[in-house]
Amino acid sequence: MSNNSNIPNTPDRVPGNSPWTPDSWKSAPFTSPYTYEDPAALTAATKSLAQLPPLFTSWEIEKLKEQISEAQSGQRFILQGGDCAETLDECRPEYIANKLKILLQMSLVLIHGLRTPVTRIGRFAGQYAKPRSSPTETADCNGATCELPSYFGDLVNRAPFDPESRAPDPNLMVEGYKHASMTLNFIRSLLDGGFADLHHPEYWDLSFFENADLDTNRKNQYQRMSQTLADGLSFMENLGEQRVHESTRVDFYTSHEGLNLYYEQAQTRTVPRRTGHFDLTTHLPWIGERNRNLDGPHIEFFKGINNPVGVKVGPTMQPDELVTLINTLNPTNEPGKLVLIVRMGVDKVADHLPPLLERIKAEQLNVLWMTDPMHANGTKTAAGIKTRNFDDILSELEQTIAAHKAAETILGGVHFELTGEDVTECIGGASGITEDDLTKNYASLCDPRLNYQQSLELAFLLATAMNPSK
Ligand code: PEP
Ligand code: CO
Repeated sequence: MSNNSNIPNTPDRVPGNSPWTPDSWKSAPFTSPYTYEDPAALTAATKSLAQLPPLFTSWEIEKLKEQISEAQSGQRFILQGGDCAETLDECRPEYIANKLKILLQMSLVLIHGLRTPVTRIGRFAGQYAKPRSSPTETADCNGATCELPSYFGDLVNRAPFDPESRAPDPNLMVEGYKHASMTLNFIRSLLDGGFADLHHPEYWDLSFFENADLDTNRKNQYQRMSQTLADGLSFMENLGEQRVHESTRVDFYTSHEGLNLYYEQAQTRTVPRRTGHFDLTTHLPWIGERNRNLDGPHIEFFKGINNPVGVKVGPTMQPDELVTLINTLNPTNEPGKLVLIVRMGVDKVADHLPPLLERIKAEQLNVLWMTDPMHANGTKTAAGIKTRNFDDILSELEQTIAAHKAAETILGGVHFELTGEDVTECIGGASGITEDDLTKNYASLCDPRLNYQQSLELAFLLATAMNPSK
């Protein structure tokens, strides 16, 4: 959600025709959904961000690119997950540790089930900016009806419905950077300190196995899988992926939607002894479904950086358009560069995904196919609560796996919205959350997330669906 309404278009700099620069996105046609009212404050914030140390280094970013390249050819699998929107208030040790724990545990289930190394990428340390369906929201404020800017995430404005909180504030970019940095510092310390050693059964909450309503076959299957996880852990050590006993260190990568281009640009730099620019706010930025238009500022910005880049691919995407998009973002067809995060919806994926798979395969374009079975599967209850159904998520996953099998292409990763907390935001799963439970602990300010047990269960089901012989 870049706001280039503060910067007039300059007709001599047309994206695509003039050379790329870190600010060439400002010349792309775009109607920003919000405006920073104080240009001097915006300049001060971006200047300060540009002077602060980078959050990441180019060699970590290049290493992730290599791992994505391996996943493209089926030698690795990518697990990407985290909150829909991180908030500054939730930069707290217990939330961070729980999110890290669920992602690590899911990855262990997948490593074991798929017999392949797994790269973990959190929607962490910067997932603070959100696209919204409407630029404004109308509600009651102080007894009167008023229209205010929508909440665009803590990188842009604040959630409470009052004029002061909803005013876009460039200083929040600096706050976002600081909170990303604190989050990251804690994650790096946890991993350095051996937090990744989750071999001990007491760290795993598998109580959803005990649900009386759980189908017997599924229950037996879960029990078999959990009993053999221990063998899997020794297998992993042999694979060299999970060397927790030797080095107490596992790789962990971050990602966020690269929505606010002021933020992304401010930390985009050249680095010594490498050519090109790196966006050092994250390892893997992605372009959202609403901002992937070919002549828009997001494509212009992200085509020029060296990071691997993700793009959401929804049901309106046509094969020709996808080919152009890939050639624009990755003109040299570099392996590991591009992650297509497909989010079609449970009713559309079977029809819309195969033509894309066939075409990209025929064109021999190097991409990592990832599935996001969350974002086109949102529903609203009669009471107006946003939710998602566990069975829809699972069904989109299974249909995606089947489509890749039929096309003889490789599904190299999955993308989930999840949390390590015991929230009640998505319906279903063996722990049996129903519509009536949703109000018990609904904490998300944006989209509903899988809770700890639903996430772990989905990892078991994904491993089975991808590797039915297990
Ligand atoms: C998201 O990932 O939170 C999101 C908004 O996704 P999409 O762009 O696919 O709608
Ligand atoms: Co979301």
